[in-house]
Amino acid sequence: MPLYHPSEEFVSQANVSGMDAYRELCARAAEDPETFWAALAEEHLDWFRKWDRVLDDSQAPFYKWFVGGRTNMAHNCLDRHCRTWRKNKAAIIWEGESGGKRILTYQELARLVGRFANSLKTLGYKAGDRAIIYMPMIPELPVAMLACARLGITHSVVFGGFSAEALKTRILDLDAGIVITADGGYRRGKIIPLKDAVDEALEDCPGVRDVVVYERAGLLDIEYVEGRDHRWDNLHGEAEDFCPAEELDAEHPLYVLYTSGTTGKPKGIVHSTGGYQLQVSMAMRWVFDIKEDDTYWCAADIGWVTGHSYIVYGPLLVGATTVMYEGAPDFPAPDRFWRIVDKYKVNVLYTSPTAIRAFVRFGEKHPANHDLTSLRLLGSVGEPINPSAWEWYYNVIGGGRCPIVDTWWQTETGSIMISPLPGATPLKPGSGTFPLPGIDADVVDGEGAPVAAGGEGYLVVRKPWPSMFRTLWGDPERFRQTYWSQIPGVYFVGDAARKDEDGYIWVLGRVDDVMNVSGHRLSTAELESSLVRHPSVAEAAVVGVPDELTGQAVIAFVTPKQDVEAGDELAADLREWVAREIGKFARPKQIRFSDALPKTRSGKIMRRLLREIVTTQKVSGDVTTLEDLSVIERLAAGRSED
Ligand code: WT7
Repeated sequence: MPLYHPSEEFVSQANVSGMDAYRELCARAAEDPETFWAALAEEHLDWFRKWDRVLDDSQAPFYKWFVGGRTNMAHNCLDRHCRTWRKNKAAIIWEGESGGKRILTYQELARLVGRFANSLKTLGYKAGDRAIIYMPMIPELPVAMLACARLGITHSVVFGGFSAEALKTRILDLDAGIVITADGGYRRGKIIPLKDAVDEALEDCPGVRDVVVYERAGLLDIEYVEGRDHRWDNLHGEAEDFCPAEELDAEHPLYVLYTSGTTGKPKGIVHSTGGYQLQVSMAMRWVFDIKEDDTYWCAADIGWVTGHSYIVYGPLLVGATTVMYEGAPDFPAPDRFWRIVDKYKVNVLYTSPTAIRAFVRFGEKHPANHDLTSLRLLGSVGEPINPSAWEWYYNVIGGGRCPIVDTWWQTETGSIMISPLPGATPLKPGSGTFPLPGIDADVVDGEGAPVAAGGEGYLVVRKPWPSMFRTLWGDPERFRQTYWSQIPGVYFVGDAARKDEDGYIWVLGRVDDVMNVSGHRLSTAELESSLVRHPSVAEAAVVGVPDELTGQAVIAFVTPKQDVEAGDELAADLREWVAREIGKFARPKQIRFSDALPKTRSGKIMRRLLREIVTTQKVSGDVTTLEDLSVIERLAAGRSED
């Protein structure tokens, strides 16, 4: 396999130049992690009060970082830069789907955040309260996040593609007092209504006292509930532009982000303030090699962790210019991304394998029509990237000049954990290469012993890291059970991985019943419980199968109730049902009806067999635990496709 080395030109300007420099950082971090992280925290961030202890592991796995320290994320993202020449630097370059553009300088962003924070204060919200943010990709979304961060209101952003039902679950779990939303947002030229979904969700959420609505889409028939709902613009009438930042404890929960696990109930991943801001800002330097004059674009949605860490908090912490795009990558035409790169002279582009595969399919003519020579670094995240898609990204988009950082991390880790350093690491297409300095990630066997070179095993993280999630909201026991009990004393990631003869790490995919569709996590249990809630469904089993475009696709095996007619109509109905209950992105690609599902004698559905049936049309391996062998033959029939 060929190694891809960074050019001399790249190396000479890199924040970390050459493997020796990388190894030196790793050695220092390994020798004394606390001193290592503390020095960086002091150098790169403002603290109102210095910490007493860097790491408290006395209550492991409930680790604490920068104990006793006081800081504020919004202060570090805004105020710090507004005191320098950066005050008039572009903080956010926003591109609307239908062509609008807004450029917010650090000073202007700080003003909007200050005003909104004052409005929240006037409504009575303060540190420790919780806010749900359900907004489209417009600048008011980061404004809302930063205003919450400024006051210590823990925010939870719910991706705009989630349904009213999913929104409701999150509002209730978080016991949020306020929902910040918009009338609607744009996607592929159409308006996606958001306020309607909020109204529907709030029928069952008595704890919500206030709803703030930003009018983005000009939807005229929005209803404002007297005493509960406020227009964003009206709220600001009296508000001042400046709002002092709360001096928050380093461990103060900055946000909760829900992600799918192996049960039907989403997990509320809790992130802190001090450690999180340190590690995301270091990733901006180490991984994205960020420079003062870069135009940086992470083409994700802020509704997922990638957008939290690498559209909003990471770039603003380091005073970078972050591009934010509102809409779909193929709207109005498949060259939209390359148009944006050309228009704003983007230098660093961070996107996902699923997007890259779609671009490969659209063809080379689209990027060829635009000047992409501003690009100097490319990134990938969300799932393993196929070597062929990697090569295409490298050659067609990067012109063979730009290193690719294949970044492995999770909602739980908060920040990038495994990735090349672009001015140091020789690249192998498809491998995330090595852990970042200070990150003790490894591939181990079931007992926690490292696998030998060439071996496969579980990906784990042995030592605590600053941006680690602190717990699951309201469920510390599940936190301990799911992540810290599988292999004693280490963080169990849930991914399988291989370590090759050069020590490169290759992440292979999940080891649990969690799927990865277009870089988004979906739980089989969550999908299955949604399907069986449908009045016509007796039983359902869901599997993820390889898909050329989305990485994995959802196939649902459904046993209808007696006397229910299973056909295309029911299949279409079920797909819509899931879209309504969870969100459109979760809609199964295929529904297969069957009068029974393959089960073990103890009644456990054998998803492995279902997966084989859809991928190879037959079943291999051990089926002796199967209760009724004839089920397998009957399963091949009854498919209905999108
Ligand atoms: C899971 C985490 C991190 C933000 C996006 C997803 C998979 C993520 C990679 C990569 C191979 C990857 C893993 C991980 N994953 N990045 N570069 N190579 N696999 O966040 O929804 O929390 O999902 O995505 O399976 O566990 P998430």
